[in-house]
Amino acid sequence: MNGAPSIRTQDLAVGYGGTPVVSDLNIEFPGGKLSMIVGGSGCGKSTVIKHILQLHTPISGKIFIGGHDTSSMPPRQARCIRQRSGVLFQDGALLGSLRLKDNVALPLREHTRLKEAQVMEIVRDRLEMVGLDHAMDLFPNELSGGMRKRAGLARALVMDPRMLFCDEPTSGLDPIMSAELDQLLLEMMRRFDMTMVVVTHDLASMRSLADHVVILGEGHCLYEGSIDDLEKTQDPYLRHFLDRKTEERDAPRLTLPPLDPSMFKDDCSALLGDTTLRKDER
Ligand SMILES: Nc1ncnc2c1ncn2[C@@H]1O[C@H](COP(=O)(O)OP(=O)(O)OP(=O)(O)O)[C@@H](O)[C@H]1O
Ligand SMILES: [Mg+2]
Repeated sequence: MNGAPSIRTQDLAVGYGGTPVVSDLNIEFPGGKLSMIVGGSGCGKSTVIKHILQLHTPISGKIFIGGHDTSSMPPRQARCIRQRSGVLFQDGALLGSLRLKDNVALPLREHTRLKEAQVMEIVRDRLEMVGLDHAMDLFPNELSGGMRKRAGLARALVMDPRMLFCDEPTSGLDPIMSAELDQLLLEMMRRFDMTMVVVTHDLASMRSLADHVVILGEGHCLYEGSIDDLEKTQDPYLRHFLDRKTEERDAPRLTLPPLDPSMFKDDCSALLGDTTLRKDER
């Protein structure tokens, strides 16, 4: 594999228990570029990533990585690809019983013959890159949500990946933290020659990061191409998706009256100034 590999699917159908979630998928994530998969919740974004990572077997069709068909790959080559694929899961997926530095060191200790001093040198470097070198000795439950994501990114980068998959890296972060993480992902792209596939709900992230966009919906690929062409589309579904920020939804209305304060086991009425509804008011 020379350079960062492209990832291509051919007539791919993926799903669970023989039922497809996404089918007729003929897409390509170009090598060395940042591609984004977007689409509504449950449309199959994570499912596609998990199949590319070979955590599940496709229902039909093929996945090619760097031109190699993953379905007929010798086990050693498949292992190589897995080891050189970094993954950032939604919650960082850190092991709670290990300190941050040991979480990040884990892939190196498992898959390389590096000496402990070299392992720690790489760990420190990656943690410094994501701004967490001061937190090396902390346990995951001592980190904030944003720190956990950055820690997950440090671990995903520790094996010098040729492919990096990030599943909703900015979900649960405030807009400033999201923009910082986007910036960090761009920096990583510049420092490592890798193919990046990022799943997102975040249109702002998509507009600022993506070289290439894949939109999934209704069990298919609805769009594949550049962000510029996407912005020009007149397709009603895609327009609705792109313009959705402009239409704020009304707050949902309660369909039942509020709970009667006397129904609470701990009666806080005196403290909170609740007034118990009279029978005729209920
Ligand atoms: N392990 C599984 N077994 C069976 N069905 C699954 C499994 N994982 C996901 N699904 C189903 O596959 C569909 C797609 O799920 P997926 O997680 O890929 O969606 P998504 O696009 O990533 O959504 P979100 O944006 O909410 O993360 C859903 O209907 C889900 O219930
Ligand atoms: Mg998902």
